[in-house]
Amino acid sequence: MRRQPPISPHLPAALLLAAALAFLLAPQAGAAQDPPAAAAPTASDACLKCHAPIQTALKRKLKHAAVDMGCDSCHINHRDKQAAQTKTEHYLTGKQSELCAGCHDYKDKAIAAAHKGQPFETAECSGCHDPHASDRPKLIAAQAHGPFDARQCDSCHKAPKDGKIALTAASTSELCFTCHADLQERYTKAKSKHTLLSSDINTCTDCHDPHATNQARALKRPVTTLCTTCHSGLTEEKKFVHEPVKGSCAICHDAHGSEHSKNLHAPVETLCLECHNTKTAPRLFDGKETTLFSGKVTLPPQSYSEIKTIEITKGRFGHPTGNHPVFADAKDGKPGFNCLTCHLPHAANGSLQLLVTEEPTTMTLCNKCHK
Ligand code: HEC
Ligand code: HEC
Ligand code: HEC
Ligand code: HEC
Ligand code: HEC
Ligand code: HEC
Ligand code: HEC
Ligand code: HEC
Ligand code: HEC
Ligand code: HEC
Ligand code: HEC
Ligand code: HEC
Repeated sequence: MRRQPPISPHLPAALLLAAALAFLLAPQAGAAQDPPAAAAPTASDACLKCHAPIQTALKRKLKHAAVDMGCDSCHINHRDKQAAQTKTEHYLTGKQSELCAGCHDYKDKAIAAAHKGQPFETAECSGCHDPHASDRPKLIAAQAHGPFDARQCDSCHKAPKDGKIALTAASTSELCFTCHADLQERYTKAKSKHTLLSSDINTCTDCHDPHATNQARALKRPVTTLCTTCHSGLTEEKKFVHEPVKGSCAICHDAHGSEHSKNLHAPVETLCLECHNTKTAPRLFDGKETTLFSGKVTLPPQSYSEIKTIEITKGRFGHPTGNHPVFADAKDGKPGFNCLTCHLPHAANGSLQLLVTEEPTTMTLCNKCHK
């Protein structure tokens, strides 16, 4: 295997600077005031006790040498009340690009060449690199997008203009569609589109990273975290959260668009009965992978350990009482109804049955229609 020489001849000086900075930024309350390099092992162990996913990540093939210098080479210790006052993203000691510059010399020719002359110096380094560890060389994040993985930077980038990136297409979505025409076709036809795709704004990159991430489908974050960054309040502070909502928003919604309102995978009746129908529910527990909505969604085996089911007779009767209609079409000026007339899809306060009244008893609900 090719061994790289130390990152740059400037490293020692840069390291000293980083150490000095880290020292200045270090919590003042701690008894030990050793430079971070010396205090590192124990300090990092303490961090890892609470941050198990990072500990797991550090088992990957390539661990960033900076991690051995201590978590505090990049993070403030948020357990220290005073230090935690500095509200930075991910408790970083500074802007990513400046933070990394503490140890990496951006004037080094090798580093510029590695970035194909693109202006990486001010970029979010974690847009392509995992700052902790990776199975890929040069700490490139686990899921590298096709053309990035092939290092075809010029399929998307022209030479930078005034130190800024320049794309080969007029907008980001146009760029994406040059290779993902199938998706363009699918969603242009869709009756219900996610708002981010209905506008002229370049929004593929609100959810996807064109380079590399740790999530499947080049997503910037795990699906549910991604969706709730913009759609907060659906489940927060609710006492009861619907099981599939805890799993993934994409179980019921198509992220881009579909034929059904709110870009759902199916009309409400079919959507809910895909899981709650007495006849078909057992397949959710048979220990095999289950596909829903004609293959649009795949659930891993044993996604759920139980499910409450309802028995539907004659296509639309049988719940919540013996002969009760579950669906009704709008008729003679009377509005129709479906599962959502009585149930909330995401979460409820106090009502285990996800009732729209959000109350433990059903009386107020019945009274809405039966007076
Ligand atoms: C080389 C600098 C660097 C070092 C050293 C480092 N981190 Fe990070 N860490 C980062 C950056 C940059 C991010 C933000 C990543 C992003 O934007 O996705 C981050 C994110 C995180 C996050 C939140 C996001 C996630 O991936 O879960 C945690 C938790 C974390 N680091 C813990 C640690 C711990 C614990 C250590 C020590 C074992 C450590 N870090 C060492 C740079 C570093
Ligand atoms: C006692 C448990 C505990 C210890 C010890 C601990 N953390 Fe945390 N850490 C948490 C919790 C809980 C959160 C989430 C709440 C918050 O943001 O404060 C968090 C949040 C973070 C985040 C932000 C995560 C994100 O998604 O942005 C980073 C980074 C982080 N910790 C790094 C560290 C580092 C570095 C150390 C060691 C100096 C450390 N933690 C020690 C429990 C701990
Ligand atoms: C405390 C010093 C320090 C900081 C801060 C630091 N690094 Fe490093 N980094 C190192 C050292 C040391 C190496 C190992 C050099 C080598 O083996 O060639 C390294 C190696 C790397 C490598 C190459 C790995 C390889 O296999 O050649 C990448 C990529 C990298 N760092 C990215 C980053 C990014 C991104 C940041 C900011 C989030 C960062 N570094 C911050 C010290 C640091
Ligand atoms: C657009 C994606 C991208 C961004 C953003 C990015 N890098 Fe890189 N980086 C790469 C690629 C690709 C390589 C080369 C990987 C290879 O050789 O296979 C690389 C290589 C490196 C190397 C190793 C250089 C060598 O001599 O081999 C370092 C160090 C590094 N990057 C640091 C950084 C820092 C620091 C930042 C943020 C200021 C950053 N990168 C931002 C994609 C990126
Ligand atoms: C699939 C198309 C595509 C490929 C391939 C690609 N990029 Fe990008 N790159 C983009 C887009 C789109 C943006 C703008 C991102 C945004 O708007 O969030 C971007 C942004 C950047 C940035 C600025 C990031 C920041 O945080 O400011 C750098 C640097 C960069 N690319 C370097 C590279 C390098 C180096 C390669 C090849 C190793 C590469 N790109 C390959 C599409 C691509
Ligand atoms: C130069 C051609 C090209 C461009 C431009 C391009 N892609 Fe891709 N994309 C690919 C290839 C090749 C793959 C990997 C093969 C595959 O899975 O379809 C891929 C895969 C993906 C995947 C993962 C598909 C999966 O099933 O895992 C997503 C998501 C994606 N691209 C989004 C985008 C976005 C967003 C843009 C615009 C920023 C974009 N692509 C621009 C060629 C391209
Ligand atoms: C609101 C967030 C969001 C936006 C905006 C978005 N996507 Fe996606 N995309 C996703 C999610 C989530 C998935 C994964 C769906 C899954 O796993 O079921 C995905 C999957 C994909 C896939 C792979 C699977 C497929 O459906 O073909 C491609 C390719 C893709 N997106 C391209 C794009 C392009 C191109 C754009 C811009 C026109 C875009 N996306 C905009 C969230 C988004
Ligand atoms: C970058 C921000 C952003 C992200 C990320 C995002 N959305 Fe949205 N979403 C919006 C905006 C803005 C609207 C339109 C305003 C509104 O109706 O709330 C919207 C609308 C919607 C709607 C339709 C609302 C209605 O009343 O018609 C649904 C459903 C939806 N998003 C689901 C999702 C899902 C699922 C994800 C994750 C795959 C997601 N969103 C990710 C910003 C976002
Ligand atoms: C069990 C299926 C299911 C899951 C999982 C699900 N949704 Fe929904 N969602 C629905 C249904 C059904 C509607 C339609 C509500 C209506 O029309 O009144 C909806 C509506 C929405 C709306 C429109 C505004 C509103 O509150 O009515 C948004 C935004 C939304 N969902 C986002 C999300 C996000 C974000 C997630 C993941 C955290 C998610 N959904 C998970 C079924 C689901
Ligand atoms: C992907 C499968 C799936 C879909 C689709 C789904 N659910 Fe559920 N639902 C579950 C699981 C799993 C539970 C938790 C186990 C249980 O309590 O039955 C649950 C629980 C419930 C409960 C019972 C809560 C309680 O414990 O009292 C109601 C009511 C409910 N769902 C209604 C709906 C409605 C209405 C829809 C359509 C908007 C729907 N579900 C769509 C899987 C699903
Ligand atoms: C007219 C109002 C109404 C409609 C329409 C309705 N439900 Fe219910 N549902 C209820 C009530 C009330 C309960 C609580 C019954 C109880 O406590 O025994 C309930 C309970 C449930 C339960 C939990 C059953 C259990 O054993 O605890 C599920 C699952 C469920 N409903 C799914 C659905 C689905 C799926 C639809 C649409 C096909 C639907 N409901 C339509 C009123 C309704
Ligand atoms: C969305 C309006 C609506 C709600 C809410 C509603 N019902 Fe009904 N109910 C109907 C309709 C429509 C029928 C059938 C036509 C009729 O008889 O009026 C019906 C019929 C019935 C019947 C006669 C059919 C049978 O099963 O024997 C009973 C009993 C009944 N409802 C009880 C309830 C109870 C108990 C609740 C509360 C848990 C409830 N309903 C909530 C609309 C509703």
